Amino acid sequence: MAMQRGVIFFLWVLVLARTAVIQDQCRVIELISRKLRLENRVMYMRDYFPIDYQLLVKHEEILGCQNVSSLVNDGITVDELRFLWGIVSENVLESVWRVLPPRHPSRSYVSDLRNVFNVLHTDAQPELGDIIKDVLERLWTPGDKMTSVAPKDLLDDCLRVLDVLYREDCDLCVPGSAVEDALCPRGTVPGWSAAQRPSC
Ligand SMILES: *[C@@H]1O[C@H](CO)[C@@H](O)[C@H](O)[C@H]1NC(C)=O
Repeated sequence: MAMQRGVIFFLWVLVLARTAVIQDQCRVIELISRKLRLENRVMYMRDYFPIDYQLLVKHEEILGCQNVSSLVNDGITVDELRFLWGIVSENVLESVWRVLPPRHPSRSYVSDLRNVFNVLHTDAQPELGDIIKDVLERLWTPGDKMTSVAPKDLLDDCLRVLDVLYREDCDLCVPGSAVEDALCPRGTVPGWSAAQRPSC
């Protein structure tokens, strides 16, 4: 009996600890999603750049709905995906930062966002499987093949993946009226449904 109660208490503490971690994360996630609002992405990542500007990034810096979908099919856990998304997003922001001249109007936006991502994954790192380790290794190995992409596209993907990975645990609202544009298309990511949510 006492033993059983001990086990139950232990499980309860585990649940509480997990809830605390996810609630802390949700506060950060809400902050990030506010910063990634459409007006901000358009202004800081497109309007303040030359027309048709393309940034050189590594292939691994592109992490969109398709990637999440195939990683889920490979059996990657949500914790691993969240970790990967945090690392990739921080890398992307560093890549954008590197091309900004000293008095560029997007500088503080990019560095604020980068700092928030930094807070996000100072939390415990999950056990990483080989697939994610390989992606990270390619991301961090210099001199690999690059690809060019518009800066705003990178942050559009960042928000779409945020929504897929956190909307349920963090009760996220649907960002703005341009819903289709800001979210992964319905049914692309297995296991995630586009449940009815309030818009924000
Ligand atoms: C996402 O998919 C693209 C296209 O297949 C690929 O080049 C890129 O490396 C993938 N990103 C990650 C983080 O695996």
